[in-house]
Amino acid sequence: MAKTKKRYVCQACGAVSRRWQGQCADCAEWNSLVEEAPATVFSQKHDLSSGGRAVEFVSLDKPAEALLRRTTGLAEFDRPLGGGLVPGSAILMGGDPGIGKSTLLLQAAATIAKNGGETVYVSGEEAAGQVRMRATRLGLADAPVKMAAATSVRDILTTLSKMEKTPDLLVIDSIQTMHSDQIEGAPGTVSQVRASAFELIRYAKENGVALVLVGHVTKDGNIAGPRVLEHMVDVVMSFEGERSHQYRILRVLKNRFGAVDEIGVFAMAGKGLTEVENPSMLFLSGRDEPLAGSAVFPALEGTRPVLIEVQALIVRLQSGATPRRAVVGWDTGRLAMLLAVLEARCGLNFSSAEVYLNVAGGYRLSDPAADLAVAGALVSALADKPLPDKSVHFGEVSLAGEVRPVAHGGLRLREAAKLGFTNGSGPPDIGEIPNGLNYVSVASLPKLVDRVMRAH
Ligand code: TYD
Ligand code: MG
Repeated sequence: MAKTKKRYVCQACGAVSRRWQGQCADCAEWNSLVEEAPATVFSQKHDLSSGGRAVEFVSLDKPAEALLRRTTGLAEFDRPLGGGLVPGSAILMGGDPGIGKSTLLLQAAATIAKNGGETVYVSGEEAAGQVRMRATRLGLADAPVKMAAATSVRDILTTLSKMEKTPDLLVIDSIQTMHSDQIEGAPGTVSQVRASAFELIRYAKENGVALVLVGHVTKDGNIAGPRVLEHMVDVVMSFEGERSHQYRILRVLKNRFGAVDEIGVFAMAGKGLTEVENPSMLFLSGRDEPLAGSAVFPALEGTRPVLIEVQALIVRLQSGATPRRAVVGWDTGRLAMLLAVLEARCGLNFSSAEVYLNVAGGYRLSDPAADLAVAGALVSALADKPLPDKSVHFGEVSLAGEVRPVAHGGLRLREAAKLGFTNGSGPPDIGEIPNGLNYVSVASLPKLVDRVMRAH
């Protein structure tokens, strides 16, 4: 008998290797290779004379069936989805441990159940008693959710097929705890995650069930397991926030049924997650007098403007030690770039200083339009001079130090003006300036630096 070749699969990127190595040769992750059962290879050529069925071609202009969406009863959950859950679709929800994924999904399941929908919540991580305790704490113990603690995909699908009514919503918390007997390997390995997800998604598509898979995230914020999981599902969501802060943001990273620019905002309180309908002021510290190192960025999340405070702290080092750069809520690489531009184009010196950057309220900024606000906070911290009172800053900064236009400049300013801001800085030519707001266009970073330095 031929000796079966050993096969090692990287649990981070899915790369296959013949030998075990400490570090994956593809993605450079350490200790991520795990031995897995060999994949069956169909090497024979297809015999086309029998067995195949004709595939029907359809035209693209067939009248589209309107997507029936089921609202979850939580508007902040429906909004990023594009209006609600689509039957027969699969959603992957990632997020740090303890951020509130289980809480959110239990609340959604309970709300749908209370409104007459059939919902099933399968927990592979917690015992039934623990889920029940959470439900009691949330005041949802009376919701007719069908809850079970199980990890075998076969058991789950068998149970579902025997149910009188097919569920409208099926929550699997989490996909990393599921086990499919179709394939060898421990739960959580790449092939197990893939096989379990495949079976569950097929069930959801065949039966018109909206399926939500909870996915763990790795330390760098990606959903653990193979990237293929993200390709298999229709929607990828991430639930974000800082555990020490109250606010949570539900973001959509991929959506086959809608746009990906809307967010849902929640606050974690003693009785679970409450919806935040108007988040524009949440991420401001709310102090009255201006402070050095603080800048406000008028962000746009889909259709909703949100004002976000960026804080910078610069500490001069006496010794020749390598200075630290620490960032919370923004991209480290982008901070390095901005510091380099400030040094090269504006003659500022950060080389012997530690730089700390923080986005208030546990918000994560990814819009490049935030560059100017970050630059403003950095320059203001370095000069130890506050930016103009009640001001917002926005604009993308290029490597040449120019401030580039960004989308919806006018809308950003209008919202800032509505909330009592009186000064704005950003790229030139942004169109109509709202009444009562003093707008100073900065075409390049040196101009911003100049303004801050000249302030008394
Ligand atoms: P959980 O939903 O278990 O997180 P995840 O499933 O993403 O790991 O959330 C757990 C956290 O939420 C826990 O640290 C406590 C907090 N929490 C509240 O503050 N209030 C509540 O009513 C509940 C249920 C949880
Ligand atoms: Mg959980």
